[in-house]
Amino acid sequence: MNPFRDRYGPVALVTGASSGIGTGFAEELAARGMDLVLAARRMDRLAALKQRLEAEHGIAVQVVESDLAQPDAAERLFAACEGTDVGLVVSNAGFGAKGWFEGVDRSVMAEMLMVNCHAQMQLAHRFLPGLKAKGRGGLLLVSSVEGLMGGPFSTAYAATKALVVALGEGLWGELQGSGVDVLTLTPGATESEAAAKQGFDPALMQNVQPARECAALALDNLSNGPTFCPNAHYRALFERMTAMPRRDALLAMAQGMRPKG
Ligand SMILES: NC(=O)c1ccc[n+]([C@@H]2O[C@H](COP(=O)([O-])OP(=O)(O)OC[C@H]3O[C@@H](n4cnc5c(N)ncnc54)[C@H](OP(=O)(O)O)[C@@H]3O)[C@@H](O)[C@H]2O)c1
Repeated sequence: MNPFRDRYGPVALVTGASSGIGTGFAEELAARGMDLVLAARRMDRLAALKQRLEAEHGIAVQVVESDLAQPDAAERLFAACEGTDVGLVVSNAGFGAKGWFEGVDRSVMAEMLMVNCHAQMQLAHRFLPGLKAKGRGGLLLVSSVEGLMGGPFSTAYAATKALVVALGEGLWGELQGSGVDVLTLTPGATESEAAAKQGFDPALMQNVQPARECAALALDNLSNGPTFCPNAHYRALFERMTAMPRRDALLAMAQGMRPKG
């Protein structure tokens, strides 16, 4: 008896599984008895994770090298999953860039659009027909609380994550009654490599949630869409912010996020 695997299995695809929240999803799904397809660019990380999860949980793990900044990456990932009964797609890979909008490199912005937006939309388009045909399964899109409103000094990233919220909300509406759950996850600060990659000290982040806890709560709430914030502090904060007049909320955020110096 494994109700989670019966509902969403037998295989889950996780993009961006090589670190942070994606590794949390892989660990949590393995603990729930799911076989896995794990995708990312860093194959050494994926190989080590595969070895550990197969040994700890007796599941089967396939690893796929995937650069989601490439226009046909979703197509390739779908092809790599051919013959694999994927019942849950966790579209998690993504990255951000903080600071003044004009200070973000244009090529980084273009890559962010590809990974955070294009790849997520294409993956949904590729995998949903199969899930609908089965009449069960799930699509989990990872956005951010920053996708819930404009994000001064994280402007381009917040804009990419707003697209994910709109994508997920639309699909949630379309898929009612199909047997396929759609959840858009809006994490707050979560333990991962993201802060260090963006050049700020993770120790300065507050109310940080462990990645595994974020993943577990997301999986527990797959049927409670359209959106779900797994971090109680950020959930309350953004409920207050989005209820405020938009000008006041944006001014407060601009003041809080303005780079020093
Ligand atoms: N941590 C937070 O506070 C937080 C808050 C809100 C939302 N999020 C979102 O959570 C998701 C996971 O991020 P994280 O915080 O866990 O950061 P992370 O530790 O940096 O993980 C990012 C993952 O995305 C993958 N990735 C990045 N670029 C890729 C590309 N071009 N092709 C394929 N995979 C790529 C990375 O794998 P490779 O480098 O091996 O390719 C890595 O596995 C992202 O969508 C992020 O926006 C995070």
